[in-house]
Amino acid sequence: MKRLIAKVWVVATLLLTTMLADPMPAVAETKAAPAANDYVIGFSQCTVKEPWRVEFNRRLIAHAEQAYPNVRLDVLDADDKTELQVAQMRSFIHRGVDAILISPKEAAGLTGVVKEAAEAGIPVVVLDRDVMFKGYACFVGGDNKLIGRAAGKVIVDMLGGPGKAKGLVFEICGGLASTPGQERRDGFHDVVDKEKGVKVLGGLDGDWKKDKAYSIMQDALKVHPDIDIVYAHNDPMAHGAFQAAKAAGREEGIRVIGIDALPNEGVRWVKTGELTATLLYPTPGEVGLDVALKILNGEKVDKRITLPTRVFTKENASKGGEEVKFKDGG
Ligand code: FRU
Repeated sequence: MKRLIAKVWVVATLLLTTMLADPMPAVAETKAAPAANDYVIGFSQCTVKEPWRVEFNRRLIAHAEQAYPNVRLDVLDADDKTELQVAQMRSFIHRGVDAILISPKEAAGLTGVVKEAAEAGIPVVVLDRDVMFKGYACFVGGDNKLIGRAAGKVIVDMLGGPGKAKGLVFEICGGLASTPGQERRDGFHDVVDKEKGVKVLGGLDGDWKKDKAYSIMQDALKVHPDIDIVYAHNDPMAHGAFQAAKAAGREEGIRVIGIDALPNEGVRWVKTGELTATLLYPTPGEVGLDVALKILNGEKVDKRITLPTRVFTKENASKGGEEVKFKDGG
């Protein structure tokens, strides 16, 4: 409210100054001043180089326009650079925005500035990738450890089932400085490392990028022509690996699993048979914005909001995928 009063006051002062300078203002100048925003929220998105983030921003902006017409949402793209994202966060702190949303490039490099914002009294909602400082207001994202375990389960089932699974799996990791990269790896290994007949190779950092995964896979096939399944930490990398296998004439014998399940990417590739399965990783923007508004309106919110996953295969892709169930319930 204080902010609203301050803004209205600035607009009023400007109008008064204009009128004093010109006692008979032209018609154009008498137009109503633009409506003041109730709140200003800054959002620093780590990159828009990947389709999942483009969709994340699209859904967030559409939700903001539809649900909160009086909120000004300033969306910045950090261009995949930690230093730029730190600078964007500092500019939000300096401007004194009402709340900040951030989807960090990586954990360690963004931890300090999230702390600075929280210490400046600005509620910070961290989206999709976590930081090490936990004094922010809320984290909204998928359960990446669970997604990694689910990918492990899908792969073990494809290779013959628990206790009987046999085969060579090649893993291509996302950015390992980020929590989803670490957790998708750890969850996966929790499941597959129990299988004596399954060998996992790879584990290189593909930085979530299709072209990097393509060259990782191209090199891997030269040394390990007998790869049965590729587990890539997102769909663009999974598709890059598929294309490398195709270029090597190996697309028939290799199954490829990814994560994200965007309708026009992963789910489409599962339907065309280019990927064998993908796991849903919902974009967290709309929930994140709702949380920020609740905080600004004085409501209590949970510290962590976990978004659900689903598995998509050729059999269930047109029906919206399926819930992932574990025997141990976990
Ligand atoms: C996009 C992306 C997604 C992935 C997520 C993990 O930048 O790489 O494909 O699921 O980030 O944070």
